[in-house]
Amino acid sequence: MQPADLLIDNLATLASIDADGDFGVQHDAAIAIRNGHIEAVGPREEVLRAVQLADDAEVIDASGMSAVPGLVDCHTHIVYGGNRIHEFDLRAQGADYERIAAEGGGIKASVKLTREATDEALLAAATKRLARMRALGTTTAEVKSGYGLTAQDEARMLATAKAAGEAAGVRVTTTCLALHSTPPEAASPDAYVDYAIEEILPACAPLADAADVFLERGVFDVEQSRRFLEAARSHGLRLRLHADQFSEMGAIPLAIELAAASVDHLEATTDDGVKALAASNVIGVGLPVAALTLKRPMPPLRQLIDAGGRVALATDANPGSAPCLSLPTTMHLACTQMGLSCAEALAAATQGGAAVLGLDDTVGRLAVGYKADVVLVDDPDWRQLIAQLGAEPARVIRG
Ligand code: NIG
Ligand code: FE
Repeated sequence: MQPADLLIDNLATLASIDADGDFGVQHDAAIAIRNGHIEAVGPREEVLRAVQLADDAEVIDASGMSAVPGLVDCHTHIVYGGNRIHEFDLRAQGADYERIAAEGGGIKASVKLTREATDEALLAAATKRLARMRALGTTTAEVKSGYGLTAQDEARMLATAKAAGEAAGVRVTTTCLALHSTPPEAASPDAYVDYAIEEILPACAPLADAADVFLERGVFDVEQSRRFLEAARSHGLRLRLHADQFSEMGAIPLAIELAAASVDHLEATTDDGVKALAASNVIGVGLPVAALTLKRPMPPLRQLIDAGGRVALATDANPGSAPCLSLPTTMHLACTQMGLSCAEALAAATQGGAAVLGLDDTVGRLAVGYKADVVLVDDPDWRQLIAQLGAEPARVIRG
């Protein structure tokens, strides 16, 4: 075994899904790291016995602190121009999100502002958001397009997401959300779906890991979504769906039919949807900030877990429905509003998110061989990162 170059020593507690997939908490622990990967992790006596330290190794004395895996935010929209703070203020005074969208605000407003933004402005704003996310514990983030809606503008969003990830030190995966809205220049939603399949997907596939659709009343229906997702699959992309945010339109059956990686939102999902999803391999992603902000019912993650389903948690960070970059706040909401335990919330925001992105053999756990993505919490009890509303990590390390 080669000598370790970083030792995180004297941890009061360490919480993570382990190599076998079980959640565990260790006391008096340490993590030995070499070349950005975990060499040994567990009780400090065992770790110190197992590894040799390089002469110039860095040693972090984490006395009184705890460690959890780097957080994985598997659903964000953080590349966009301008902002929609005035819509937030209008909703605060009673305006409705779907009504604002129907009147040309919402996603359409961000499309206009994003198309108008210079490359430099788009990159600077996205980098600032990702840097803030990293300070809040996110070491891996998925970033969607969806405010460009032309081949060129969608590809520009994805390239910006990758560049911003490099600049901010966050591992970024990208998703082509061409079916987010029908742009004003399109003759009809069907004509736009044709364009998305023929022009946007070929331009974006080399820059994207996944494809996504907003399957919702007044946006795109099952047939349009199926056509686009099948085409995306032929480009080798993972499949995701914005599902059941305001209405059940058949997104869960479609996701199961297509073996999608996830369905995200689920505020309008009924018992039958929960049952079908729990019996499948598709992961249900809860976005509690969007539910809170838009005064929607919380997604039924408790019921999904109890029925044996797979779940993840994400911020949905975007300029409209979820103005929040914090997974600790998201986990807090999962505990206080959705009935998850701290352990379930942490698992959903680490290993769960990694599974959605197809990265759960490399990130989302403090386990040997995994990337050394570590969040240090300045409290002997790791749950303080979730319990204290607005908590921030003491330090974030990315392997
Ligand atoms: O996940 N629901 C669709 N898309 C985003 C909202 C984007 C926006 O409002 O700009 C969401 O909530
Ligand atoms: Fe979203």
